[in-house]
Amino acid sequence: MRYNPAMNYNFDEVIECRGFGSIKWDTVREGILPMFVADMDFHCAPQIAAALQKRLSYRVFGYGRDPELPDALIQWFREEYALEVQPDWIVLLPAIVPVLSAVSRLRDGPVLINTPNYHVLLGAPLKAGKRTILSPLKNAGEYYQFDFDDLRQRAVPEAGLLYLTNPQNPVGRVYTQDELSELSRFAQEKNLIVISDEVHCGLVYDHPHIPYFSVDAYAADHSVTLMGPGKTFNLAGLPFGFAVIPNESLRREFQSVCYALPSPGILNLAAAKAAYRDAGEWRRQLVAYLRGNRDYLEQELKRRFPPVKLTHVEGTYLQWLDLRPLGVERPWQWLHEQAGILTSDGKQFGLDGYIRLNFGTCRSRIREALDRIERGLEKKVIFSLGGA
Ligand SMILES: Cc1ncc(COP(=O)(O)O)c(C=O)c1O
Repeated sequence: MRYNPAMNYNFDEVIECRGFGSIKWDTVREGILPMFVADMDFHCAPQIAAALQKRLSYRVFGYGRDPELPDALIQWFREEYALEVQPDWIVLLPAIVPVLSAVSRLRDGPVLINTPNYHVLLGAPLKAGKRTILSPLKNAGEYYQFDFDDLRQRAVPEAGLLYLTNPQNPVGRVYTQDELSELSRFAQEKNLIVISDEVHCGLVYDHPHIPYFSVDAYAADHSVTLMGPGKTFNLAGLPFGFAVIPNESLRREFQSVCYALPSPGILNLAAAKAAYRDAGEWRRQLVAYLRGNRDYLEQELKRRFPPVKLTHVEGTYLQWLDLRPLGVERPWQWLHEQAGILTSDGKQFGLDGYIRLNFGTCRSRIREALDRIERGLEKKVIFSLGGA
């Protein structure tokens, strides 16, 4: 990865995001602050923009390949995780979402998934005609954990796959080596392949992320680890992803179930290579900024609204919280209608009552969101006292 330590990136800049074809900004009413869809309100790294401009200038857009990209990924694994990934373990993908459905056909039988979880991941096996078995994570105050008793109870012998998100969307956990080792032991006991969606892995704040295939020998041989630059480098609109599958026969099976997926777009390949190879310093500064957002939001939520129940976000830019202790009955609706903030409804992740708030934005917008919640609550008090 090439670093450019002299450059300072300004994530405080308030970027006008409306009018450029953004789902997050262009599908909501003027005046509503959108904090739902998981992309960030930042310009991409200049190294990525330069690579795209260079590739565009060739003006030939046939089927693409980039022989340097696997090397850039291998180098990323070396620098980020001190792991030696072999070139043939890597399978390039057009994005993560289409894979989540296709990969459910790797094994017969139902798919085990923890809840709450990324709504697309929850629905993907169903779209492929598979059944899902949902096992709630244990809510231990500000952290969620695997509930192995519940998983053991629910894991019927026919179950063949377990889907994982790590860092966890929406609860922001980054699982530790001990937790992942225990999960691998459980997978071995139940003869499961783990599909580990790690698309948020470049955005962690408290302790390192551990790629699932590196957990132990069983995990290496019985897993598909999915990653991509969409979240870390804010490239969701230039989708690209890759799988790491050390086991050769599993890799062949994976390639077979993903056969119908298109190959990655040529601009997306250029952006991904520049991201992993050249945008390391931008990412380092982004993580520092997001950590600051995470701390600011958590402190202010606790200071301004002490009863609120929130999780401590270890990774992702997504805050999971329960506003009901403030006397707000339907928080998602209330935030939209009374505070003018569009968040993601916890119901879609499998846990009604909660909301997920995207803090991948400049800090002044987070302050604005907190002020809007405060004003909404003041209105509510005045209203309940029979005022305005
Ligand atoms: C856990 C997880 N996986 C996958 C995706 C989407 O990946 P892609 O845009 O590469 O399909 C998201 C987007 O929010 C996500 O949170």
